[in-house]
Amino acid sequence: MSKTALVTGITGQDGRHLAELLNEKGYKIYGIVRGQHNPKRRLVEETMPYVNIIEADLIDVSSLTRALTLSDPDEFYNLAAISHVGYSFKDPILTAEVTGKGVLNCLEAIRLAGKEKTTKFYQASTSEMFGGLDYNRPDKGYDEKAIFHPRSPYGVAKLYGHWIATNYRESYDMHISCGILFNHEGEYRGLEFVTRKISNAVARIKLGKQDHLELGNMDAKRDWGYAGDYVEGMWRMLQQEKPDDYVLATGETYTVRHFVELAFKEIGIEIVWEGSGVSEVGKDNDSGKVLVKINPDFYRPAEVDLLLGDPSKAEKVLGWKRKVDFPGLVKKMVEYDLGFEAS
Ligand code: NAP
Ligand code: GDD
Repeated sequence: MSKTALVTGITGQDGRHLAELLNEKGYKIYGIVRGQHNPKRRLVEETMPYVNIIEADLIDVSSLTRALTLSDPDEFYNLAAISHVGYSFKDPILTAEVTGKGVLNCLEAIRLAGKEKTTKFYQASTSEMFGGLDYNRPDKGYDEKAIFHPRSPYGVAKLYGHWIATNYRESYDMHISCGILFNHEGEYRGLEFVTRKISNAVARIKLGKQDHLELGNMDAKRDWGYAGDYVEGMWRMLQQEKPDDYVLATGETYTVRHFVELAFKEIGIEIVWEGSGVSEVGKDNDSGKVLVKINPDFYRPAEVDLLLGDPSKAEKVLGWKRKVDFPGLVKKMVEYDLGFEAS
């Protein structure tokens, strides 16, 4: 018999990849869409017609309880969050409500609906919880036992979600797994995140629709994978007999600057850097035209300088491994945006 899944965050990047994966696997899928006039509802209807939409909000436990009663899911994937680190500094209280307490609302809704023994729960935890100040495993990367030191209201809220999920697993014997995912990107990535901002700007510059790209800290390093690979890991976590926490990462880390260089290379431009700090610019080596500038508005009050993950446990226990490498990811995103911007 086919399984049923309830997914929060269905309108986001991971929600779309996960819905595609679960649909291929024959799941009946319910997706939560919030708000009265959410333009992304249409996106779900058009691109994922197999998703049954339920109106609910992570800050409203009664709506979540109703969603659980309506869908009666075998698996509940909580992907919803205010997920932009920079934005979380601007709206920290709402971030705490949604990204942090929203997890508790989901878990209480499961209990209120009487499904704590029948519904498996996935919590979208994050490498942002490590923060990067405690370089306790600088060479091997952060694993499931590394020390947490979040550096943003988002990271702090996610850490609450992670620990309340852990607490419910230990207190009520619920099947709850937390995926500690390092950055994952792709063609469905929001334009506010740095990789998609770059791939989209590169495509627009190529098509003559944009003059240059403005960025903040280009020296930050991230462990970047492809989102399509990561949702497979989420699913595998919920297929285990016992719940547990797993890091999903590539085990490689690159600077934002390197992403910029590879992305421009995809359209035949070699970027050369001149100057330093806020005066640094990236120029087209052939024409000398300035294509990249620094805008301090994109700096954050506190930065995570380096993220590098160790996915050994997921590889061993779940048999999970990323398929798309870093150059492959950049290529995929620029190619997609060239088509997206041309149409
Ligand atoms: P995303 O594209 O920003 O999607 C976030 C989703 O949350 C959207 O569907 C959004 O709905 C929904 N949402 C926001 N507030 C809500 C509320 N009050 N009630 C119900 N839904 C709400 O994020 P993503 O990249 O897919 O990431 C999925 C999850 O993984 C997030 O929890 C994120 O924090 C976590 N994560 C992501 C990464 C990564 O690199 N992508 C890494 C680690 C962890 P609207 O469309 O209506 O705004
Ligand atoms: N967004 C953005 N925009 N980031 C910039 C920019 C810019 O113009 N310029 C430089 N950056 C730097 C940020 O300061 C950060 O160091 C890095 O690029 C990555 O930024 P984001 O793409 O916004 O991602 P993130 O690492 O902060 O957070 C993402 O990954 C987390 C997992 O580690 C999000 O998806 C989070 O939801 C996720 O938990």
